[in-house]
Amino acid sequence: MAGNSIGKEFVVTTFGESHGKVVGVVVDGCPAGLPLSEADFQEELDRRIPAEPKIVSGRVEKDIAKILSGVFNGLTTGAPIALMVENKETQSSDYEAIKDLPRPGHSDYTARIKYGGFNDYRGGGRFSGRVTVALIMAGTIAKKLLGRYDIDVLAYTQSIGTVKTDKKFTASEIRKNKNAAATRCPDLACAEKMEEVIINARKEGESLGGVIECIALNMPVGIGEPLFDALDADLAKALFGVPAVKGVEFGAGFKAAELTGSQNNDAFLLKNGKVLTSTENAGGILGGLSSGMPIMIRVAIKPTPSIAKEQKTVNLSSMENAAISVKGRHDPCVVPKAVPAIEATVAITLADHLIRSGFMPKVLKEH
Ligand SMILES: Cc1cc2nc3c(=O)[nH]c(=O)nc-3n(C[C@H](O)[C@H](O)[C@H](O)COP(=O)(O)O)c2cc1C
Repeated sequence: MAGNSIGKEFVVTTFGESHGKVVGVVVDGCPAGLPLSEADFQEELDRRIPAEPKIVSGRVEKDIAKILSGVFNGLTTGAPIALMVENKETQSSDYEAIKDLPRPGHSDYTARIKYGGFNDYRGGGRFSGRVTVALIMAGTIAKKLLGRYDIDVLAYTQSIGTVKTDKKFTASEIRKNKNAAATRCPDLACAEKMEEVIINARKEGESLGGVIECIALNMPVGIGEPLFDALDADLAKALFGVPAVKGVEFGAGFKAAELTGSQNNDAFLLKNGKVLTSTENAGGILGGLSSGMPIMIRVAIKPTPSIAKEQKTVNLSSMENAAISVKGRHDPCVVPKAVPAIEATVAITLADHLIRSGFMPKVLKEH
């Protein structure tokens, strides 16, 4: 079965390629009665492209969402919502020269074998970071649904290469500085250093990766479907679908393996009649169910595969060893653009589980 969909009740199916006509998404199972307009998508779509041209690819296009179905009189109807944005800024000639030279680190080789060479290789086709536009549109709907229950999902850049902020941010600090730095790091001094290392990497024909932290606040207790649709399992599955994601950790993550039980366990405490924990090593999920504490996820993003520095590859037409230096327009670091995509992916998964659990009704009441 093709793997273009995620979710069981809030089902998100993406379509489109980087250099095709459109990138789009169908959201099936969105509760009826949610106010939704094309303008709702603009802020998140704009946020995908940081304003600083030195740290992103030259492909800067204003993405404008079109709603094709599922909305009537400004409200969702309960029918599938189809959304699309047009691809305007394509420069497909960049890819003719490297058609037979798979870029190391990219999907060119594996996709060519899987699809017998029929895949649209232009701009990475279906594997382009541009598919995150689809996730962002579906995520916007998910966030609107979560917002009705004061559930907020916030992501920011924690590190780029070896430059890392050690600060712990409050939700309002993340919100306040959400778009203040092009690197999407709320620690503005650190954000400047991040920008510098990205610019230097690009000058050297190199690229960088980094870590995005994502926090979901106010999730009710007990949401998730263990064992295999456990909340953490579904979040990880969805997040690994985002191109360039190479690791997902919850709470203490891999560090938990080095701790003792008493160090790692989050002791419970009662505060104003609510059961809380004094530490947050579990990342807000116990037994695959939300614990009511903030869900804390860290996502590792690899360095952009397409780099100007010469690398070895194989010419798949002549079957000879070859060299490749990728020209064209590429992000020297995809982390800033991935921040809203990670937020969206987490929001989509949480909305799906809230509907599955019955916490969120399929027909919304006036709000
Ligand atoms: C927002 C975003 C933008 C991206 N931009 C580029 C890019 O400009 N050049 C590139 O080679 N890869 C880019 N990528 C990464 C590739 O899409 C990805 O590495 C590739 O499909 C291989 O998949 P994998 O890294 O998950 O194995 C981007 C990824 C994201 C999330």
